[in-house]
Amino acid sequence: MDARLAAYRAAAREGRDPTCCEETLSLLIETARRIGAREILEIGAGEGLTSIALFLETGAKITAIERNAERIATARSRIAEFKADVDLLAGDAAELLGTLYGPFDLIFLDAAKVQYRRFYPEVKRLLASGGVLFSDDVLLFREGVPKKRKMLAQHLEEYLDLLRGDPDLTTALYPFGDGLAVSFKK
Ligand SMILES: C[S@@+](CC[C@H](N)C(=O)[O-])C[C@H]1O[C@@H](n2cnc3c(N)ncnc32)[C@H](O)[C@@H]1O
Repeated sequence: MDARLAAYRAAAREGRDPTCCEETLSLLIETARRIGAREILEIGAGEGLTSIALFLETGAKITAIERNAERIATARSRIAEFKADVDLLAGDAAELLGTLYGPFDLIFLDAAKVQYRRFYPEVKRLLASGGVLFSDDVLLFREGVPKKRKMLAQHLEEYLDLLRGDPDLTTALYPFGDGLAVSFKK
């Protein structure tokens, strides 16, 4: 990986809402290459580092959504620095997903976990047949649920039930970071 991007990733991993872990990024890149992804969507782009890595490693066209103004500004400057073909949409995914047409060959869902369930119908609509959905942090509470996080834990459990119960998907779970679900759409 580009040394500057690796340094930005290392710094971003120290902050709040960090960039995804190495294993998840590697699997994203490997999967994108394997399926020949041409169109990729990242929901919750943070500082844009995963979108940039996906562009640099696969040449795919990336669409990314981020709602935090400070991160949008950082992401825009990083995207320009790496001359990455990343279309960064500023705003809430809850509003923006419905405005997209897709289909996307690969979708990386890494926004507010409490919204995954709500995003699911639009995410599924936007995912191409034969496409792959990555949902990050789905096993956030695998070591126990703190009292104040019971509702979020319940949301994540229901989201996983949606993925696992959907006859159009085949889903595998990976213990990377706070848990990753990888779903293949038939
Ligand atoms: C874990 S960080 C993303 C890291 C990024 N995917 C990466 O790998 O570098 C989660 C990001 O999602 C954004 N986010 C959360 N909910 C969102 C929403 N509903 N719409 C857009 N962005 C959202 C947050 O502002 C935050 O920057």
